[in-house]
Order: sequence, then structure tokens, then C-alpha cells
Amino acid sequence: MPTGKMSSTGAVWKGIIDKYRDLLPVTEKTPVITLNEGNTPFIRSRNLKKKIGLDIELYFKFDGANPTGSFKDRGMTLALSKAMEEGAKAVICASTGNTSASAAAYAARAGIRAIVLIPEGKIALGKLAQALVHGAHVLQVEGNFDEALSIVKALVRKYSITLVNSINPYRLEGQKSAAFEICDQLGCAPGYHALPVGNAGNITACWKGYKTYRDNKRTSSLPVMLGFQAAGAAPIVLGRPVEKPETVATAIRIGNPASWKGAVAARDESGGRIDAVTDDEILNAYKLIASAEGIFCEPASAASLAGVIKLYKENYFRPGTAVVCTLTGNGLKDPDTVFKVSEEPLKVKADVSAVEKAIEGVI
Ligand code: F0G
Repeated sequence: MPTGKMSSTGAVWKGIIDKYRDLLPVTEKTPVITLNEGNTPFIRSRNLKKKIGLDIELYFKFDGANPTGSFKDRGMTLALSKAMEEGAKAVICASTGNTSASAAAYAARAGIRAIVLIPEGKIALGKLAQALVHGAHVLQVEGNFDEALSIVKALVRKYSITLVNSINPYRLEGQKSAAFEICDQLGCAPGYHALPVGNAGNITACWKGYKTYRDNKRTSSLPVMLGFQAAGAAPIVLGRPVEKPETVATAIRIGNPASWKGAVAARDESGGRIDAVTDDEILNAYKLIASAEGIFCEPASAASLAGVIKLYKENYFRPGTAVVCTLTGNGLKDPDTVFKVSEEPLKVKADVSAVEKAIEGVI
């Protein structure tokens, strides 16, 4: 007989604050604003070895399976929970799309307003749709992400609204949970962890997460951190801000990352690399993950695999060592890109023989 009561020790997943409470800056007084984010699929590559000769132990951490379709939810649950604890009435962010979608959803969940600034015409349609449907106050800025973020920073100095970009330290604290989960799912820390780099918060957070797990004796080693920027938006690789960043991967179209120093520290302390991949390499990896592995991620996410393929060609990886690629966002957010890289479906008459003819050679 169902009792209607749920055990707090049961197997029900209640989000990353519930799961990793002892490692996060929350107390019993913190109201937990959650959409049960985290616990995302950790998927071993099955077909890339045969398909492109990528002979490594490769895994995908599919963070596009989070409630709003990106890794941002890991940080947003903590940012909104702490904001509510501190009595916030509204939150604000600049975004290339995913942060705004997540902020809008978690603010709706918390029952407060979200104000989001996005670069006009440069975010995937699904992300804009999310911010709108969750009831955010959406402003399309006639400028890029870096300009929008400067405006947001100026506004929070003047008004009492909580900033929920990744310069809010709670965002990074929550995003550390991706590293915790990878270690839990793999049974140890991986040898290498590759991520796309935009505002550089996620690579910073994951590196901190691995160190936290090691310091708490839950793992005994640390991975080498690998970050990949789009070639047209690669300030860390170039060593200087890029004034007019351009890339098909709009999520990482950022010229002056807020967590620049954190990304460089992750690279240097782990003995890793931050490198650039071209739009062609990104789109190629994007199609490969979808067509050869059955995982639909957004273009920016594929920068991680594009980078791993690039380094593999340089004989970079130690054999027999696990390589993890974070797939940061869900492909459904950005269907437009699919139509740029795929052929239009054939049109056929509505009869059996027409369809038979059209599938000749396929079966
Ligand atoms: N992948 C996706 C899908 C993203 O949305 C972002 C960042 C990144 C990678 C890069 O992560 O900034 O931590 O280095 N998106 C932010 C946004 C900037 O506004 O949604 P990062």
C-alpha cells in the first residue's frame, strides 16, 4: 500500500543540493529551490573508434539532460536557493542563452522575477523561448555578451537585485557537482576532462570540484583539464580579449571571459591545455556525436569532442586513460543549426510504391 510518504534515504533523486549537501555552502535554513537537476547520463562512446579511429576510453557527460537542458541548472539551484535565503526579490543575468533559460526557470520556481539581457539575434531560438515562457523580463541588447555583462554588473552596484551570472560564487559551487558526479559514475577521477570554454566558469568549477573530492578523500587523483574555445572567440588562447567574437557556437561567443583566471589556473595546476577549435571542427563533432552516438547536443557542447579529436591526432593522450567530454547543452535548443548541416528530407507522394522507390538503397 502506498503511504504517500517518501523516505528521505530512498533512491529518489532530489537534485544536487540534496545529494551533495555536505560539500556545498548551505545550512538547514537555506530554502532549496530545485528542479531535481543533476544525475545526468554518463555515456561511454560506442562507435567513434570504428567510425573515425578514435581509439581512447571516451565518455560523454550529457549535461544537456538537465531540467532546462544545460549544465547551468547545477549552479542555478544554489544561486537561487542562496538568493532566497538572503531575501532577494529579483535576479538578473547577461547570457548567450542557457544561463537566461535556467535563471528564468529557477526564478519562476522560487516565485520571483528574472531580468535577462541577451545579445540581439545571437541566441538559439529555443533558449529565447525558454526565457519567455518562464516569464522572465527579456531584453535584447544591441551588442554582444561581454557588453551585456558589463551593463548587468553596473546595475547590481546600483540596485538590490541578485546577479546570477557565474561571477556569483554560488553558481560555481553548484557547478562543482558535475565533477562529483563524474567521479561517482566512473568510480574514480578521469584521466582527462574536456569542456567547451565561454565565460570560463564551468572549467573553473569542475576543477574546484575535483580538488574538493580529492581533499575529502573520495578520489585519490585529479584529471588533466582541457578547455576548448571557438577559434573566432578564443581570448584565453590568444592571451588577450577579443573585441568582436564570432562563432557558429553562439553559447561560447564570448571575448572577455569573467572566469579567465580560474580557467588558466585549472589548466596550469592540472598540467592541461586550453586550445581553439574551428567552426568546421565544431560542426563536424556536433554531427558525429548525434549520428554515431545518438546524443544530440548543441554546437558549443561539441567543442569538447572537437578538441579531443584534435589532440588525439597529436598523440596527446596516455593510452588506457579515461577521457570525459562534457556535453553542456541540449541540441533541441538550437534546431536551426541542424538545417545548416543536414539535407532537406525528400518529399514523396503518399503511396507505397513512391516510398519504396525513395528507400531503394537504404534497406
Ligand atoms: N556550453 C554551453 C552550451 C553554454 O551555454 C556555455 C555558456 C558554455 C558551454 C561555456 O561555459 O561560460 O562556463 O565557460 N553559456 C553562458 C550563458 C555564457 O550565458 O548561457 P562557461
